[in-house]
Amino acid sequence: MKTKITELFGIEHPIIQGGMHFVGFAELAAAVSEAGGLGIITGLTQRTPEALANEIRRCREMTNKPFGVNLTFLPAVTPPDYPGYIRAIVEGGIKVVETAGNNPQKWLPSLKEAGIKVIHKCTSVRHSLKAEQIGCDAVSVDGFECGGHPGEDDVPNFILLPRAAEELKIPFVASGGMADGRSLVAALSLGAEGMNMGTRFMATKEAPIHDNVKQALVAASALDTRCANAPSFGLSASVSASQAA
Ligand SMILES: Cc1cc2nc3c(=O)[nH]c(=O)nc-3n(C[C@H](O)[C@H](O)[C@H](O)COP(=O)(O)O)c2cc1C
Repeated sequence: MKTKITELFGIEHPIIQGGMHFVGFAELAAAVSEAGGLGIITGLTQRTPEALANEIRRCREMTNKPFGVNLTFLPAVTPPDYPGYIRAIVEGGIKVVETAGNNPQKWLPSLKEAGIKVIHKCTSVRHSLKAEQIGCDAVSVDGFECGGHPGEDDVPNFILLPRAAEELKIPFVASGGMADGRSLVAALSLGAEGMNMGTRFMATKEAPIHDNVKQALVAASALDTRCANAPSFGLSASVSASQAA
């Protein structure tokens, strides 16, 4: 299938495996890319830029198809060595970076100069428009259903995606609660050019998580969907269990 996203990233299927802290290692990214999607290594899961450079090398040994790196920008007293991580990405020949967490404007010039396409993860239309304005190539629009950090607006995808389609000129993928071919058809019909999945990929053999967790995901019913909030840490996450079934 050809969409603006497959064209932009040089992939076969418009399916992206979003960055996942402590899940997105080379094995998972390579498997997704080998299958024709876009696998993504989670940059900050690697403790140092050198470790990321090594993970990129490992991934390249497993696939010669395109794969990306996620860079999540979160407020921190001692921020990670972002310039070092970007150097590892550029020198590693990565051509797609998924940014998330905060406005990536400061880092765009060094990525763009290296010919890297940037897809920024947004949980609102206004943030998506900002990403477009600062020069991102695409956005991942993450509805309230998404695993990880769903933002503060709590707008689900049936509302968010059509609004994004009305406003955005750059292509976007639908993210949050996506699980299979039906999700992809729905995403395309709502105006997206593909989809991004996280939770669904946790239930794969390449995901380095305990088998009991994978079995729990697969065995879960629709009623097992949970929304976990930890406001004191500014964290919240939702997992739609039926995604993994
Ligand atoms: C366990 C887990 C860890 C995640 N870690 C990150 C992360 O470090 N950076 C990031 O940008 N997104 C992260 N995400 C979000 C995913 O990339 C993706 O946007 C989200 O999972 C999509 O929603 P879904 O899980 O409903 O498919 C994480 C998601 C999960 C489930």
